[in-house]
Amino acid sequence: MCGILGYVGERQDNLATFFLEGLERLEYRGYDSAGFAVLDRNGHAGQPPNGLPLFKEVGPVGQLATKVGRSQLPGSIGIGHTRWATHGGVTVANAHPHLDCTGSIVVVHNGIIENYQSLKQQLLDRGHRFTSDTDTEVVAHLVEEELASANDTPDYAPSDFAAAVHRAFRQLHGLNAIVVGSTEAASLALFRLGSPLAVGLNGVAALVSSDLPALSAYTDRVLLLDDGEGALLTLDQPPVRLDARSDTLKQQHFSTRRNGHLGSARQSDPPWTHSACTTPPPVADKGAYPHFMLKEIHEQAEVLARIAAYPAAPISTAAAMIERAFGTYFTACGTASYAALEATYLFSHLARKHVNFAVGSEFYFLEDFLVPESLLVAASQSGETMDTIEAVRAAKRHDSQVMALVNVPGSSLTRLADYVLDLYAGPEKAVVSTKAYTAKLGVFLLLAYTVAGEQAPGRAVLQQASVALSDLFSNGLDKQLRRLAGELAAHEHLFTIGRDVNYPTALEAALKIKETSYIHAEGFAGGELKHGVIALIEDGTPCIVFAAQDRSRAAVLSNAIEMRSRGATIIGIGPEREDVFDEYVHVPDVGYASPIVSVVPAQLLAYHLAIERGLNPDKPRNLAKSVTVK
Ligand code: F6R
Repeated sequence: MCGILGYVGERQDNLATFFLEGLERLEYRGYDSAGFAVLDRNGHAGQPPNGLPLFKEVGPVGQLATKVGRSQLPGSIGIGHTRWATHGGVTVANAHPHLDCTGSIVVVHNGIIENYQSLKQQLLDRGHRFTSDTDTEVVAHLVEEELASANDTPDYAPSDFAAAVHRAFRQLHGLNAIVVGSTEAASLALFRLGSPLAVGLNGVAALVSSDLPALSAYTDRVLLLDDGEGALLTLDQPPVRLDARSDTLKQQHFSTRRNGHLGSARQSDPPWTHSACTTPPPVADKGAYPHFMLKEIHEQAEVLARIAAYPAAPISTAAAMIERAFGTYFTACGTASYAALEATYLFSHLARKHVNFAVGSEFYFLEDFLVPESLLVAASQSGETMDTIEAVRAAKRHDSQVMALVNVPGSSLTRLADYVLDLYAGPEKAVVSTKAYTAKLGVFLLLAYTVAGEQAPGRAVLQQASVALSDLFSNGLDKQLRRLAGELAAHEHLFTIGRDVNYPTALEAALKIKETSYIHAEGFAGGELKHGVIALIEDGTPCIVFAAQDRSRAAVLSNAIEMRSRGATIIGIGPEREDVFDEYVHVPDVGYASPIVSVVPAQLLAYHLAIERGLNPDKPRNLAKSVTVK
């Protein structure tokens, strides 16, 4: 949540272009508002008379671009932000960057400052003036105070500035990433704890961002920062590494490697060598598709083919870790959690192995079970989901092993885990997850087959699923779902049911539909209906039934009949048409990979429901792609 972008380097004719383009790439982290400031001390043509060129606007970056208009903002240093609101409403005043009382300290932030109320009260008592309701603004005033108390004159050096930001950062409680700019020091000082930050270098500039994919548009040389670390980026100076883990700030230069790449223990390549991925993810574009969501749904056949051909060594190592573990726990959040839940069924059926499951946000309440021999397997598209990361931290507190299934190389989770499996889904830009979900199902399936000693049949079934999906796309699946969406778009409620391996499919289908269309959709295990849910069924209520060709088929069909006798309209998804279905969506039987194929019609339905209801499926309200706060 909240995207951060900073630039220190060669003077650009128009830094506004850099920020508008870069912030658009970060928009999936939050689109409540966006803003940026240019910090050069020498005036600009478009500079407001009483301060820095600072532009903020609510809504997506496009609206900020309209506000900036034709303003030319030459500059060599600046910071920008896309916001997912936590403290303070969605207003221009609450949009980042935020300023101190003098207007020379500029701050952007991601995270939650848990003690901001007491800090703010103390700052107000000491005469500071606040212009927003955010927790972030306290940082600007804290840095202002720290600078004033350490310097007799208004002039200060970059190292004084870094020290002041360090002292301010040490006063914050919670998991935060801050980037603070100073016009006086012509520098950016940044620190992170929990929330991600990385510095990219490309020969003409040092860049900072919350996201590696945002940096990959400008450079493939990335310095990753650990918790408690930071950096000082100053014009015409090499970047300085800061260590905020003690009261005294430690500063040292990032060392230079023989091959000319800037390097240190934090350079991006070591964590990525766990997996086969060695380069930052490419910048994604929509291609010929109107939305990322539709493009990513269609990419799933290709993703499955990649997973079918997954390098054998990492899968075998991961399977051996699971076999060795005394207690394996799967955890993840949201859509990813349904993939992890699915894995418990797959491990039971295929590997005859008991694994535990808890959603990430609840996992650390269960940590008392953990011992050093336990294994936590955390699944995440972004690798930045704070609740999942907290689960990993809980495991680390007990010296347990951690394995991560992650789609973003170099993300926080990849660096915390003892072992990482890449999901090979490629950049996922739509806020709602589709291809990363099926990629997780694919990797879990291959792992379960491998633990059962049957990796080759696992690969074969994934390859079959890939071909099945390609066939479905070429045989008019999209058209059928578009028509169905037209028929369902006016409904207020919708239910989905499945059993066994398709229970998580039902949960995921409902989540997709509610996220994109705002229709109230609920997913249930078919057997649970008669325990209360059936009271919700009325004449014409649409119910999606996942009826795979497995041992749960008869039971889920009888649940469908129960709903239909209460007036429900039944949409059946499965390999065979049944009388109880009012509408039938065919998906072939691909054994234990069936849930991967079966979820795709639900994804397409969710997409088309959004379009029918005039909504942008790529950016549902109130959501952000990476949920980096607890
Ligand atoms: C739903 C969705 C979310 C994410 C969840 C975890 O479409 O995308 O529910 O699955 O926030 O995100 P990751 O996988 O990045 O940990």
